[in-house]
Amino acid sequence: MPAIVLVGAQWGDEGKGKATDLLGDQIDYCVRFNGGNNAGHTIVIEDEKYAVHLLPSGVLTPSVTPVIGNGVVIDLGVLFGEIDMLQQRGIDTSRLIVSANAHVIASYHRTIDKVGERFLGKAKIGTTGRGIGPAYSDKMSRVGVRVQDLFDEKILRQKVEGALLPKNQLLVKIYNRAAIDTSAVVTELLEYAERLQPMVQDTSLLLNNALDRGDTVLLEAGQATLLDVDHGTYPFVTSSNATAGGACTGSGIGPTRIERVIAVVKAYTTRVGAGPFPTELEDADGEKLRVIGAEFGTTTGRPRRCGWYDAVIARYAARVNGVTDFVLTKLDVLSDFDTIPVCVGYRLPDGSVIDEMPMTQTDFHHAHPVYEEFPGWREDISEAREFDDLPKNARKYIEALQDMSGAPFSVIGVGPARDQSLLLRPLTQ
Ligand code: GDP
Ligand code: IMO
Ligand code: MG
Repeated sequence: MPAIVLVGAQWGDEGKGKATDLLGDQIDYCVRFNGGNNAGHTIVIEDEKYAVHLLPSGVLTPSVTPVIGNGVVIDLGVLFGEIDMLQQRGIDTSRLIVSANAHVIASYHRTIDKVGERFLGKAKIGTTGRGIGPAYSDKMSRVGVRVQDLFDEKILRQKVEGALLPKNQLLVKIYNRAAIDTSAVVTELLEYAERLQPMVQDTSLLLNNALDRGDTVLLEAGQATLLDVDHGTYPFVTSSNATAGGACTGSGIGPTRIERVIAVVKAYTTRVGAGPFPTELEDADGEKLRVIGAEFGTTTGRPRRCGWYDAVIARYAARVNGVTDFVLTKLDVLSDFDTIPVCVGYRLPDGSVIDEMPMTQTDFHHAHPVYEEFPGWREDISEAREFDDLPKNARKYIEALQDMSGAPFSVIGVGPARDQSLLLRPLTQ
């Protein structure tokens, strides 16, 4: 099995961490290819719960080599904080490899993220405030600082100085903030250099060599399809490519290496931050999903907006990612509902009904969900381990979603623990 990509199908927090962990021993490398510590992936192993933001979820499996790819933006303070936290909990992180080409999030990126959001006022995106957008802006503007720059002080100073020149004008003259001192930033970044150096490699070369040997490489996304900067609900998105295409550019692996694209999809929908969300529930059902599903952000603790499953979005995710398998998560959260609506299309303001994502932002903002209703099962399913252990209505719900979503459902999640999963089709053969 060569490379496998794992992405989120909705607006994030679908349970990518758990899905990656399930692949566990079947993979040799686990590579994060986009985003940064805006992600929050939760993994439950027996009685222990881990939340990783920057490290690939595979760090928890001893036989897996975790890799932070070139497409990631790295806050070094967070990286070492996460490594220390895991080490204190007895997890060996010594195998971690970091791309020399990954970009670094500096303190000025965090500052600009926060003041920029404040200035947007009502139009704010609701970012995680971790400096993600400004770090990717610098990358695209070719004024970013990369991991490799930390090992050449002269270059580092030049780059930080160049990046700060226009930013300080902006901070002082527009945002009414103090200017940031180049030397202070350089000193802070250099403090990490010695500890970082042994982890740094040409990760494209490493991963391609591994694939040539026949190793299995999992490319794990942060965020999700509808947060992708090209294919998501722009501008209410993150600043990277969280779809399968990003797995190639964010790791240095060619598309011909990829055999499987797994999309993780929740049995309902959630979203954190601002932006359109057609099936959002602002009533008691929404609150019920939030409480039963424990829908509070892993990264910021914000309550997640909740709504019903949207089959238009699932099909869209299948299309833009080339999905071969879905992992359906959190089916257990729906056990307490008499009726479960599923969005099968959108009614637009002109009265027309469509069953694909609208072409324009304006239409998506005004799209009203058209629902088909399914009877609930009102029975605890968290102990189910085989498809046939599920109540008839739960099986019918899964089959209906699968028919609407555009790819087979290979795994069904019935709880946060590793073993609370129904494996319907192997993911790595
Ligand atoms: P990620 O960002 O996609 O990795 O997802 P998060 O970790 O942010 O959020 C998913 C949450 O759902 C975590 O708390 C998981 O432990 C939990 N989870 C994953 N799968 C299931 C499932 O099948 N059932 C339930 N009840 N919880 C699940
Ligand atoms: P995981 O990997 C859910 C959202 C933020 C905000 C928007 C832009 O755990 O699924 P950013 O800080 O990235 O510039 O914020 O994207 N967002 C996420 N929402 N899960 C995530 O990651 C997210 N990462 C970013 O809430 O709306
Ligand atoms: Mg998350």
